[in-house]
Parts: sequence; C-alpha cells; structure tokens
Amino acid sequence: MASQSEKRVHIATFGCQMNAYDSARMAGMLAQMGYAQVERPDQADLIVLNTCSVRHRAEEKVYSYVGELKRLKRERPWLLIGVGGCVAQQEGDSLLKRLPHLDFVFGPDALGSLPEMVTQAARGKRLALTSLGAPARPVDIIIPAEPGLKAMVTVMTGCDNFCSYCVVPYVRGRERSRTAGEILEEVAALVDAGVREITLLGQNVNSYRDPDGGLDFAGLLARVDQIKDLWRIRFTTSHPKDLGQGLTEALAGLDKVMEQLHLPAQSGSDRMLKAMNRGYTRAQYLDLVRRLREMVPQVALGGDIIVGFPGETRQDFEQTLSMLEEVGYDFLYSFKYSDRPFTRAGRLEGKLDDETKGRRLVELQALQRVLGLQEHQAQAGRVEEVLVEGPAKHGQGLMSGRSRAGRVVNFPGPPELAGRLAMVRITQGRENSLLGELASATGER
Ligand code: SAH
Ligand code: SF4
Ligand code: F3S
Repeated sequence: MASQSEKRVHIATFGCQMNAYDSARMAGMLAQMGYAQVERPDQADLIVLNTCSVRHRAEEKVYSYVGELKRLKRERPWLLIGVGGCVAQQEGDSLLKRLPHLDFVFGPDALGSLPEMVTQAARGKRLALTSLGAPARPVDIIIPAEPGLKAMVTVMTGCDNFCSYCVVPYVRGRERSRTAGEILEEVAALVDAGVREITLLGQNVNSYRDPDGGLDFAGLLARVDQIKDLWRIRFTTSHPKDLGQGLTEALAGLDKVMEQLHLPAQSGSDRMLKAMNRGYTRAQYLDLVRRLREMVPQVALGGDIIVGFPGETRQDFEQTLSMLEEVGYDFLYSFKYSDRPFTRAGRLEGKLDDETKGRRLVELQALQRVLGLQEHQAQAGRVEEVLVEGPAKHGQGLMSGRSRAGRVVNFPGPPELAGRLAMVRITQGRENSLLGELASATGER
C-alpha cells in the first residue's frame, strides 16, 4: 500500500512490446521521483498514457480513454495527465490545444525528459516535446525490483522501411541501434535479478548494427547467448527482406536462441506486396521459409497479414489464403487495412469498404484456426523442453509454460516446478495450446 505522503502514478500502455518496454522505463524514472505505481487511474496523482497509432482503432482508444479522464480531473484537480508514445508524436502540441485537461505531451524520443515535464506540469507549465532524433536525454538502464522470469530489451528503435501503409517510421523516426555493450549490460543485469528468458525487440531486428564496431544481429545473438544463467533468447520482429544466412545459422546453432520466428508476410499477392513496398515477392518469401525449415526443422513461424489493402481483389486475397496453407503458421496476427496519416497507401485509389474487409478477415481467421490446430496436433508425441511459469489459467492442477518454439504447454504437475525447465511429452494439440504430461526429471539446465 502506498503511504499517505507517497505520490502515485498510473501508467496506461497501448500498442506493441516496444511501448511496454518504454512504460517500464517510465515507471523506473518516476519511481526515482517518489511515484509508486497504482493499478487504477482513480487512485493516481499522475496518469501517463503510452499510446499507439498503428491503426485507426488504436488511436480512437486513446481519445476515448483521455475523454474519460476529464471527470477524474474535476474530482482531483491536482491530477496531472500526460500523453506519450506514437499518438503523442503524431499529433504533437495540437493535443494540448484540443484537450485542455492534458498537462503534457511527449514523443518516444523525449522519454528521458519525463521527470522534467512532470515537474514543469506541476508548476502549471504545459509542454509538448516531440522532436525525433537523438534522445533528448539518455535513459539509465532500469531493472524492476521484481522482474519475473521473462523480460524484454529493446535493441533498436525506429524504422526505415516505409511500408506504404505504416505510420511507424513517421512516429518513431529513423532506425537507431543501441550499442551492444549497453544491451549486454542490461541483459546481464536482468539475469542477475532472476530473469531467465529475454526477448530482444525492434521493428526490424535484422537490420541491427552496433554503432560501436558494427556487430550485426546474428553477432549480437552470439554474444547474448554467452551470458551465464540466461536460458532462453527470443526476438521480434524480423523483416523477410533482411533475414540473412547469418541469422538462420544463429537460429540453428545457438542453443539458447529459441526456434521461433515472427516473420510477417502481410500478403500472398505479388501485386499487393509491391504496392505495400515490402521488398520481396511471394516466391522469395516462400523460399526463405523453405530454407529456414531445412536448417531449423522445429521452427514455429508467426505472421502478420493485412486484408483489404487498397486495390486488393478477390484473387489477391485468395493468394494470401493459399500462402497461409503453404507456410503453415503457428500463430498469426491479422488486421483490416486502416488508413494512416502521412502514409502513401492513405492516398491510393481503390479503397475497399469496411464490410468487404471484415468478411475477408473472418474468412482468413477461420482458415488459420484450422491450420493452426493442425500445426499443434502435429506436435503430439514429441517431448518438449518447457520453461514452467506457474499454474495454468484454466484447468485445476495444471502447470503452464512455453516450449522452445513458444507454444503454450499445460500439464499436470506440482507448483514447485514454477521457474524451472521441465521435459513434457505432448499428448494433445489444441487451438491455442498443447496438453502434455511430465516426461522426466527437471533441472536448472
Ligand atoms: N515492424 C513490424 C510490424 C509493426 S506494426 C513488421 O514490419 O513486421 C504491426 C503490424 O500491424 C504490421 O505487421 C501490420 O500487419 C499491421 N499494420 C501496420 N500498419 C497497418 C495499417 N495501416 N492497417 C492495418 N494493419 C497495419
Ligand atoms: Fe511498419 Fe514496415 Fe517498418 Fe514494420 S517494417 S514498422 S510494417 S514500416
Ligand atoms: Fe503502435 Fe507505435 Fe508500436 S504505433 S505498434 S506503439 S511503434
């Protein structure tokens, strides 16, 4: 419980894992200013939103959330409200004009100035800091007091790819890699604090380059792989056009690098891929998948698909459906195309109506449910190494964890297994998880 004198902050996080990572850093900086985190906005003296603008609906969510805070501010006039993240970057100080109950606005690169903005806001000064580029002030490495088994570390920010539908390059700026030294230091500190699995984050990790010395992403993985007491490494996202032989070899050869890859295709139609500015063809993508499966037979693939991109015909869409069948994704995120500010696709002709997009999405997701279930059923009989996280959400007496390929595995077992590796024989594949039984003694690896 927070003491009377303690200040309290509620951080509301929207969007991708990079925002989740940034929110943890915000929490760390605010803790140094004496702010304890609280679960509910109505308990807070400060509310910070970390926002996402990737689709129209994501942005709408932010406005409706901010709207509701008006009432809270009437009840608690000292309450400070700040908006950060991608909507803040996109809208800048116009947010302060439109929403008089907001106290400050800050883009992703102004994160390090958060303490100063809070201080200024408390004095009645409403700031909007949204210049992109070198961070205004570097943010110290922040290790949470109780970090848990798994943690994320951002290795690069921004994106240079300018896929024609995507707002990210405009709201996150150009690609910038962190130094390998800083990343390794952060991972090592997390492992010291008890973390056993690290997910390395970037919009396109394949184009990572250490600004000190030029190490590439495969090289970085090799270095992280050597950190003692770290058990598992995952990473996301991989852009198909930049996935080279080196990374495939790292997946195949480095023991701690898990056999899981998020490799968004976005469409199975060459015409659409070109209009999306993705930089590969369907054949090149499928070839990449084939090579990956040759070298890393157990790899589980994840994808992202956009349906109803401007000009998408039924035939284009069917090419996407058939590509799903050829690839066999383990997990798939799928979206209706959404117009975004600044983007080239936003200015294209041939927009599809919402109903058509909706129907295609339903059809795609129905197919993926069948295909995903098949992938999962094919796991039956295998013995999988599972990092046990704790009791399963559903099912009494079941423990839950993830396999190396990232699949959720539930199995009967004692609670003492939490935090350990267990070998589990898979007995059944379900739509979103696998069921199994404990196969052998467990260890700390
Ligand atoms: N950097 C990652 C993706 C980041 S955005 C990559 O390139 O794979 C996450 C996903 O949101 C994208 O892969 C895409 O499928 C989806 N997305 C991005 N912009 C979109 C838009 N305007 N409409 C619908 N979906 C979009
Ligand atoms: Fe957006 Fe494309 Fe960059 Fe991914 S690679 S963040 S989809 S521009
Ligand atoms: Fe959203 Fe920004 Fe991430 S737009 S997906 S929070 S980079």
